[in-house]
Amino acid sequence: MSLAQIIKERRSIHQFEDRPVSIELIQELLETAVWVPNHKLTEPWRFVLIHGEGRRRLADIARAGAEKREKDPEKSKELGQKFYDRFMRVPVFLAVVMKEDSHPVVREEDYASTSCLIHNFSLLAWEHGIGLVWETYPLLHVPEFRSALGIQPGEKLVGSLHIGYPAQIPPARPRSSASSLLTVIDQG
Ligand SMILES: Cc1cc2nc3c(=O)[nH]c(=O)nc-3n(C[C@H](O)[C@H](O)[C@H](O)COP(=O)(O)O)c2cc1C
Repeated sequence: MSLAQIIKERRSIHQFEDRPVSIELIQELLETAVWVPNHKLTEPWRFVLIHGEGRRRLADIARAGAEKREKDPEKSKELGQKFYDRFMRVPVFLAVVMKEDSHPVVREEDYASTSCLIHNFSLLAWEHGIGLVWETYPLLHVPEFRSALGIQPGEKLVGSLHIGYPAQIPPARPRSSASSLLTVIDQG
């Protein structure tokens, strides 16, 4: 696959095959993904990988959160179970964590670099037939969820990546052509 093909054909994946993903491969891809532009080389990121039985705690927290959203006790249990099962079907979670610098400019630059890293990782994974979705659900701000991942004060949970072999690849949603958004200035 050419780079252009990988960029255009990658999709966010929500449904995964029940098939393990090599943790060594994820580590290897991360080693490449960290080669992003990063102003002042602050390297503000770190990662938490959860798989296997480790997922149960996240799934329990997702269940508890979902149950709270529904007043009717029966529907609440049903919704909770749905979220628990949904979480347990994710082969690997990778939490991308960023140290939040006290200076807003550095913080913004760091977030930009961390986002590049996530997309690098996503493209590298796609090249290996592995899909993911970058999730920014409200759970990222729930203390129990943060605590389960060992997130410290002063750290931003930039995303929870749900990773696995795609069971279903959704169709691409069209993008506006960049040339329709381009202004060219070639005269003073
Ligand atoms: C910063 C960021 C946050 C996102 N958060 C979510 C999310 O919480 N849930 C979700 O389903 N997708 C999320 N996505 C994925 C986008 O919805 C997805 O990229 C978009 O629909 C385009 O689809 P594609 O990635 O398949 O091209 C997020 C993407 C980015 C870049």
